[in-house]
Amino acid sequence: MAHFTKATSVKDWLNQRLAIEKVEKVMASEYWIPKNINFLWAMGMILAVTFALLLVSGIFLLMYYQPNVNLAFDSVNYTIMQEVGYGWLWRHVHGVAASVVFLIIYIHMFTGIYYGSYKKGREMIWISGMLLFVAFSAEAFSGYMLPWGQMSYWAGMVITNLFSMGGLHLDGLVEWIRGDYVPAQAFLNRFFMLHVLLIPLAIIGLIALHFGSLRIPHVNNQDGEEIDFDAESKKYLAGDKAGAKVIRFANDFMSKDMMVVGIYLVFFFYLVFFHYDFAMDPVNFDPANGLKTPTHIYPEWYFLWSYEILRPFSTNVGLIAFAFAQVIFFSLPFMDRSPNAIPASRRGLFKYWFWAMLIDMIILTAMGKVPPIEPFGTIGFYAALTFIGLWIALPFITKMEKEV
Ligand code: HEM
Repeated sequence: MAHFTKATSVKDWLNQRLAIEKVEKVMASEYWIPKNINFLWAMGMILAVTFALLLVSGIFLLMYYQPNVNLAFDSVNYTIMQEVGYGWLWRHVHGVAASVVFLIIYIHMFTGIYYGSYKKGREMIWISGMLLFVAFSAEAFSGYMLPWGQMSYWAGMVITNLFSMGGLHLDGLVEWIRGDYVPAQAFLNRFFMLHVLLIPLAIIGLIALHFGSLRIPHVNNQDGEEIDFDAESKKYLAGDKAGAKVIRFANDFMSKDMMVVGIYLVFFFYLVFFHYDFAMDPVNFDPANGLKTPTHIYPEWYFLWSYEILRPFSTNVGLIAFAFAQVIFFSLPFMDRSPNAIPASRRGLFKYWFWAMLIDMIILTAMGKVPPIEPFGTIGFYAALTFIGLWIALPFITKMEKEV
């Protein structure tokens, strides 16, 4: 048993039992952050804040939402939106946050790709980040089912149909997932459980893993500089704060982060109050009807790029291409064969690869939204081929890159 002495203060009492001073040092006051990073490094904090907004608004919505196929639509569109005081506000906060969180995730991911922040000991940060991306995608999809509108129902139908694996005809698997032949009460119940319990729990665990995996390799910087964190932090602690290349996470770096978070929140609440409609599909304001298929079924904007990789091909090829698109970003730290963890602008062919990938994904997103008529079908087809081609080319072009 450890040795305990009579505590001199509450802090001392806690310190003897939980080593709070040590934890505070490791995670805050002696968690060293490079000085040479820009506002793009605030995206992680913005994501954490947006997740908190989703949790809080979700808890308020949960007080009135009814997970029942006969009541769900009205509980959202009538009870919450019109009867409950400020119910509309919580719904708009939740809807806008669910959409904006993906915009920030994509910016955060492409910042990581541009600066090579997935390399040299940072692989686990990348992998845990990708797990978060998958978890957020599942969370968004399951949440979309809950209002039980036309798009909820038909998107649920289309996506669960994918599990029949095309030519393999695994219809039994689709029915097992739905708990019925078509999306119905069992389906709504299980997606409700996933949305409010299992996936949020997984996200919280994954955020802890993501933060934990940042601690040892430290945050990257915008110059691709190999910082000696031990030497630089000693300099800082010895009083040479101007000369040291690092600052404390708390409160120094946090205060900078919070400024960017503040600007983001102005933009966020502007959307909540004046443009919430961008996050809501008009078709979903019609109650679910299994006998009336909407003319054009498409997912929310953040899934459009991967949907467009599925669409231009025949069923089986499309499914393989779609599965490829879902998992391929996990492999980035291993597909990029170059030892250089520096900004893309200073790398060989990778700088063209980066911009080509970004533009291609924007084209895929745009094509995923429009009906599959010409010339959009052909553009989508070539954009999907480009996506696959870029990934195949990645190990070759990065292998050729000279070490800087
Ligand atoms: C959605 C939940 C997420 C949260 C709350 C989150 C949070 C954070 C935070 C606070 C940081 C440190 C500061 C910063 O660079 O912004 C960070 C870094 C990082 N995140 Fe995330 N992140 C999330 C998702 C992702 C995703 C989807 C990816 C990509 C697959 C990702 C990849 C990274 C990488 C590579 C870094 C290291 C950046 C560097 O060292 O410069 N994260 N994340």
